[in-house]
Amino acid sequence: MKNLKENIDNFLKEFNEDIKDLNSLERLKEIEIKYIGKKSKLHSLLKIIGQLNTTEEKKEAGNLINNLKVNIETQINNLKETFQSKEIEEKLKQNSVDFTKPVFVERKGSLHPITLIKRDVDRILTGMGFSLVSGPEMESEYYNFEALNIPSTHPARDMQDTFFLLNEMILRTHTSSCQSRTLEKYKPPLRIFAPGKCFRYESIDASHETAFYQVEGLLVDQNITIANLIGTMKTLLSEIFTESDVEVRLRPGYFPFVEPGFELDIKCIICHGKGCSTCKNTGWLELVPCGMVHPNVLKYAKIDPEKYNGFAFGLGLTRLAMMRYKINDIRYFNSGDLRFLKQFR
Ligand code: DAH
Repeated sequence: MKNLKENIDNFLKEFNEDIKDLNSLERLKEIEIKYIGKKSKLHSLLKIIGQLNTTEEKKEAGNLINNLKVNIETQINNLKETFQSKEIEEKLKQNSVDFTKPVFVERKGSLHPITLIKRDVDRILTGMGFSLVSGPEMESEYYNFEALNIPSTHPARDMQDTFFLLNEMILRTHTSSCQSRTLEKYKPPLRIFAPGKCFRYESIDASHETAFYQVEGLLVDQNITIANLIGTMKTLLSEIFTESDVEVRLRPGYFPFVEPGFELDIKCIICHGKGCSTCKNTGWLELVPCGMVHPNVLKYAKIDPEKYNGFAFGLGLTRLAMMRYKINDIRYFNSGDLRFLKQFR
């Protein structure tokens, strides 16, 4: 018995020595055969049982050897598992695929500030019974100028102000071209608005761009007065600036397609008329050029100016966005700079 116990001790010592610097699964398999395989050390230990005298001793020896077997088997199995998971890890590293990573990385976009302000204006004007219309950005001189009573001597018709294209068309200089197109197509009474991009041959700086956005408004009906124009503008602008009632004033302005024509100013929404840098200390902001539709514009569309009249206005969407979001340089809008765009979440 003493002999057996010594043998078991040596067995364990040797085994522990063998697994100390173990570095491969192959080596572990060799160790497995050596210690618990058919012709292993364990088998030679079993022979000792036969040499023992009493049943008691045989029983005890059997238990000892069995415990040893279980002990060695457990250790070997644990080592196998460790090696196998190491192997998987190694393979994953080589393929550099991490299956635990989410497949899609979330990238949220944001709406352009012009889109945000345009959506507001769309909502407010539709609520007031105006219908949304659109016209082409590549436009004929007829709809952009002629039909709007803009004479060939007008500075806008100069090469320095307008992009003239090789196909004898132009890039529309304002959304007012939608006025002449609508009047020709639909008959009064009508209320429309036309948001869109306009182009001018400008030298670009903090307040001038070659491409910018406007929204045109036009109402033609019977017995329309300047009071209707003012009322509509007050409602529209109060909604845009979320004020209960913006104060407006009219100054004379010249636009060939309206008579009389106005520059409509609003009481500065920042300082409420006291004077600040936004209104250049005047207390007023020049905001909407507008006026009563010129009889010639109606005549071009074969509408009787004796029977019908109306008003029109042109709102600078780019200018509105600059005011609302306090953007001090117009060049940001078309820059595509994500640092700018991400601020409008
Ligand atoms: N189309 C003009 C421009 O771009 C703005 C304008 C002025 C539009 C008076 C109007 C208006 O409808 O009545 O400068």
